[in-house]
Amino acid sequence: MEASMLEETIQNPNPYPIVAEPHYEDVWHLCQQARDLAWDPARDIDWEKLKEELAELPAEVREAGAEWWSLRAWMEHGATPYGAERFRQAVFEHLPFEIKQHVANFIMEELRHHEASFRIADVLGGYQPQPRSDYFKLVIPKFHDEKDERQMSFYAGMAVNTLFEQLSGELLTARYRNARYEGIRESCKLILRDEARHIQFGRILMRRFFESLSMEEKEMLGTKFAKKLRGSLLNGVYSVVNLSADERKRSGRARALAAEYGLGATHPDEEVDIIASALAQIREDVAPFDVPIPRIPEVEGEVDAPEWRAMA
Ligand SMILES: [Fe+2]
Ligand SMILES: [Fe+2]
Repeated sequence: MEASMLEETIQNPNPYPIVAEPHYEDVWHLCQQARDLAWDPARDIDWEKLKEELAELPAEVREAGAEWWSLRAWMEHGATPYGAERFRQAVFEHLPFEIKQHVANFIMEELRHHEASFRIADVLGGYQPQPRSDYFKLVIPKFHDEKDERQMSFYAGMAVNTLFEQLSGELLTARYRNARYEGIRESCKLILRDEARHIQFGRILMRRFFESLSMEEKEMLGTKFAKKLRGSLLNGVYSVVNLSADERKRSGRARALAAEYGLGATHPDEEVDIIASALAQIREDVAPFDVPIPRIPEVEGEVDAPEWRAMA
């Protein structure tokens, strides 16, 4: 074997000690809730009924809805490799059982969000296993950059991730309100219920670990958050603002159409406002820990806003 290939081979470290003694009661409580509130997208949604209801929609609307829910499905799926890396890290760092359990739940839950989303896309007009536009083909694989993750400690990185869960939770709430069909509405509701636990996990991490971070780590955390938001999530996922002009027009129109017919989508104009207020909330949440989040001009405008500057 060539030396370069050997370097790439992952070595399993000594798994001992395998920590079973509980460390974090609040995290364990989330794990118990996850067990009690488990759901099954295949069984808990009436897909036949949804299919019948949606069959009456114009072809163009079904197409737009299928594209929208395919995008949702790709994004939910994107959380699973991220989760797998964190699980691996939790094992390698000998973290307590409840942390590994939470991460395993996270993977499972994101996978069922993915399933509910591709099933909706399917009844609308066909799930698309990969983006039709070159732009999305290029940008979606960049959403999770493990190199960026590895620069942060396990808990700091997971806390950053949950800041995004908070943002996407706000968008999903608006999409839940938009959903006129019971099957789509119920899917959004069940997904939101899982996301609420993911957000809760982030709050626990902030409370427990943020005090102990150095100023450099806090600055890096804020920078990573801004980088991911601007570089990938505003590129057609959370919003279409950073898309290239032609894609922005095409993707924005499909989204607007899906929203107009109540398919559990958000209108592009509405998205920026939701992101702006969620961002203001996030700044408020991290302010007590002195985590400086750089300005996001696409969302917050170019001019300095004195309120958050004063807080930072
Ligand atoms: Fe999710
Ligand atoms: Fe999530």
